Amino acid sequence: MKNIHEYSSNIFISIQVSIFYYTYISIEAIYISPCATWNTVGITIIGTNSPGNASNQLNVPQGMFLHQQNNTIYVADTNNRRIQMFSLDSTSSTAITVASNIDSMSAIYVDDNGLTMYVALRYENRIEKWIKSGVNGEQVGNQCKQCTGVWLDNEKNVYMTESGTHSVLRWSVETNTSTVVAGRIDAHGSTSDHLYFPRGIYMNRLNNVFYITDMRNNRIQKLNMNSQESITVAGSKDGISGYDNSKLASPIHVWVNEESDVIYIADSENNRIQRWLPNALIGNTIAGGAGRGDANNQLSSPNALAFDNLGNLYVCDGNNHRIQMFQLIGNQTCPIIINCSYSLFKKIPTISINTIMFLSLMMLIDIRFN
Ligand SMILES: *[C@@H]1O[C@H](CO)[C@@H](O)[C@H](O)[C@H]1NC(C)=O
Ligand SMILES: *[C@@H]1O[C@H](CO)[C@@H](O)[C@H](O)[C@H]1NC(C)=O
Ligand SMILES: *[C@@H]1O[C@H](CO)[C@@H](O)[C@H](O)[C@H]1NC(C)=O
Ligand SMILES: *[C@@H]1O[C@H](CO)[C@@H](O)[C@H](O)[C@H]1NC(C)=O
Ligand SMILES: *[C@@H]1O[C@H](CO)[C@@H](O)[C@H](O)[C@H]1NC(C)=O
Repeated sequence: MKNIHEYSSNIFISIQVSIFYYTYISIEAIYISPCATWNTVGITIIGTNSPGNASNQLNVPQGMFLHQQNNTIYVADTNNRRIQMFSLDSTSSTAITVASNIDSMSAIYVDDNGLTMYVALRYENRIEKWIKSGVNGEQVGNQCKQCTGVWLDNEKNVYMTESGTHSVLRWSVETNTSTVVAGRIDAHGSTSDHLYFPRGIYMNRLNNVFYITDMRNNRIQKLNMNSQESITVAGSKDGISGYDNSKLASPIHVWVNEESDVIYIADSENNRIQRWLPNALIGNTIAGGAGRGDANNQLSSPNALAFDNLGNLYVCDGNNHRIQMFQLIGNQTCPIIINCSYSLFKKIPTISINTIMFLSLMMLIDIRFN
């Protein structure tokens, strides 16, 4: 018969292991189940479906960034030449202008407690850094031809998509110089070392792996910082566009759940948001996909997406001049698929090792007490 000490030791070790496990896995704030579901009817949180310059309106917004810590959204309100900031904690539908007189914005990244904004200026051929409520932007590095994407790493080096040369540049904050990290300058193609008019960029800061929307190749490429070779993680490897779930059509932006490696894509020409699981051969639609239009289950040229801390999806619905929110309705875990050649989670080995460690500890304790 076990006595009370054995049980309390077991509970103690179990708590220790659980703490270890959760600290390990919860580096990233948001974790969304790869099998989660969202309401397909969206709610407009900014915008009125028609272009305008009032504080509750937008005019062809071309970029959006969700600042997780402050729970705010920044919108590159392109045709109004301004950046709008909107608090998700607020019940009103008006935004405030945090920067203005900026031409041809095509993407936005926000840093430093929401106070520093980096914008890609497509026809101005550069990245500019703006301080909230500042009157001037400051150019970052050298020119960036047809600049359409921007992201920062932990050291604050700036990654810029130079779609005009089919490449991605990394600007070093330390040396003020740029190097090519993806694609080949002035050469487009659909092999693994080429890009064709890349647009959005997303970096997983946990491992410095980044993802590029290779727009004219209708695919998403994933690559390591130290290699110009990339692999296709969504869409057709050969660059063929299409509407079936194995394809994409002019993807503009990508968002990656850093813990699960699940990627979400603004599949612009298909007017939908697609989800692709790691190693999947097809994706599935989580929002839009009901034709181009401005009904609440439709999108029109979506060009950016993000999730808030509760797992709700936000879409910059460019040609509808609005930001749509799709509420998370199910965060259920995925059914276990018994198929050895099919890897749903890359994380399973880690989980198994933890489980094995946990069980071994349990056995050790039992042996000691018996
Ligand atoms: C806003 O739009 C109105 C009419 O569409 C125009 O008269 C006004 O000048 C615009 N304001 C700014 C700041 O652009
Ligand atoms: C974001 O939150 C931080 C901490 O509360 C605050 O210091 C900062 O001013 C906020 N940023 C903006 C843009 O309001
Ligand atoms: C960084 O490089 C750019 C382009 O070569 C140059 O215009 C700029 O003055 C440099 N900035 C600094 C701080 O050296
Ligand atoms: C979704 O469920 C997982 C557990 O399966 C949990 O860790 C996570 O926080 C949930 N995410 C959201 C956004 O509720
Ligand atoms: C197992 O997964 C592979 C690769 O995704 C797939 O080709 C195969 O059809 C799957 N087999 C079954 C029985 O589902």
